[in-house]
Amino acid sequence: MAHYEKLKNICDGRATAAPAELCCYAADGSQVKGKPDFVVFPQTTAEVSQILAYADTHLIPVTARGAGTGLAGAAVPVKGGILLDMSRMNQILNIDINNIQVTVEPGLVADKLNDALKPYGFFFPPDPGSAATCTIGGQIANNASGMRCVKYGTTKNYVLDLEVVLADGTVIRTGSNCLKTSAGYDLSRLYVGSEGTLGIITKAVLKIAPLPKFRKLIMISFPSPENAGLSVSRVFAAGVTPSACEILDKTSVTVLTKLDPDVIFPRDGDVVLFEVDGSSENAVDESAELLAKACEEISSSILITNDPVQMKEIWDARRLLGAAVSKLDPTKTRIYVGEDLGVPIQKLPALIAKVYEITNEVGITPMIYGHAGDGTIHVGLFIDVLDENEWKKLDTAADKLHLAAISLGGTVSTEHGIGAARGAYMEMQCGPAFTVMKAIKKTLDPNGILNPGKLGLS
Ligand code: LAC
Ligand code: ZN
Repeated sequence: MAHYEKLKNICDGRATAAPAELCCYAADGSQVKGKPDFVVFPQTTAEVSQILAYADTHLIPVTARGAGTGLAGAAVPVKGGILLDMSRMNQILNIDINNIQVTVEPGLVADKLNDALKPYGFFFPPDPGSAATCTIGGQIANNASGMRCVKYGTTKNYVLDLEVVLADGTVIRTGSNCLKTSAGYDLSRLYVGSEGTLGIITKAVLKIAPLPKFRKLIMISFPSPENAGLSVSRVFAAGVTPSACEILDKTSVTVLTKLDPDVIFPRDGDVVLFEVDGSSENAVDESAELLAKACEEISSSILITNDPVQMKEIWDARRLLGAAVSKLDPTKTRIYVGEDLGVPIQKLPALIAKVYEITNEVGITPMIYGHAGDGTIHVGLFIDVLDENEWKKLDTAADKLHLAAISLGGTVSTEHGIGAARGAYMEMQCGPAFTVMKAIKKTLDPNGILNPGKLGLS
């Protein structure tokens, strides 16, 4: 307990080692489990720095956690040690509209940033499904993105500068307040997606964007999931860059309409929800027409709307899908096994076909949905959790799905990260670059205290 008392003192008494509280930190949205030895609640960079310096000297693992909404176990302390609960470092430090940027602390909830920017007519575009609860620090550490990145890019495109505490307690800045810089290695990008394995983010300077004045939603149903997948490259080929492009297969539509029976949604096929936005009403109308025309030949029905209430209802329903647990069949539960597979968009129909082939062969029910516009699909898998055999099928299917994404020239994770769930694929996914990653880790964290057991690094 000597370590605990020391850490508690650094944080002015803000710490806990109560068994019941430790259990609350032993999981996230994935199947990964691991209890910390103690939790500390830092409020300043200086406290984080002292905690890390102490941990490095005494070789104690340190895992940072925002809201714990991750889907690959990145914030789960699989090797025990110190859990840094960053939720008290949650302030917006500066909104600088003239320089199109904000400075925030990592524990800030993502939607709160957008609530604060709205009155200025600005927003922070990367938009994970969990934006209502996830923190900006977690979003950066996982390079989480979501529905809008097809037009606006992912989190890494918006990080100008980070304040990071290194393993030994040294505090660095990774970039600058300039909108661009060529001064050496891009350390900001190195830290985006590093999942707390190279340092702890204590401040972030983020680029923001003006809110589009006009938006239109185009909801299209298709007679097959392959046609739905095909629509994506047809839309781009027609010269339209949608601001969102979400695919939902028939099973996802069934689940979604059970979650929200009143939602206006075609019940007869696989659906793609497109959105176009911009600052001119005519340009938005024209994009919507072009987009619909590009899909006409291969679709069953098309609905175009700019009614804000209807649009909100449809998007809210789509967001619920991530939380769908047992809405397909009361005996089946949807289990997250880190399913954010990605391929170059033209390979999307092939990936979708492969998912049905694999799940059919293994004998497991899939629900395919996701951000088709950037080549991402989520494969929700439903099992009877009381049946041991079904858990085995889940593992087999998950493994085959990850390998299928790699063999199509894709990625095992487009937005949820690697965490502890998918380290086994890093060598295959990254090739010789994985050796470079291991060398970077060794240089920045020689004693291996930072989030051990993640990214397949240890
Ligand atoms: C979503 C989460 C699962 O897109 O990434 O809903
Ligand atoms: Zn997603």
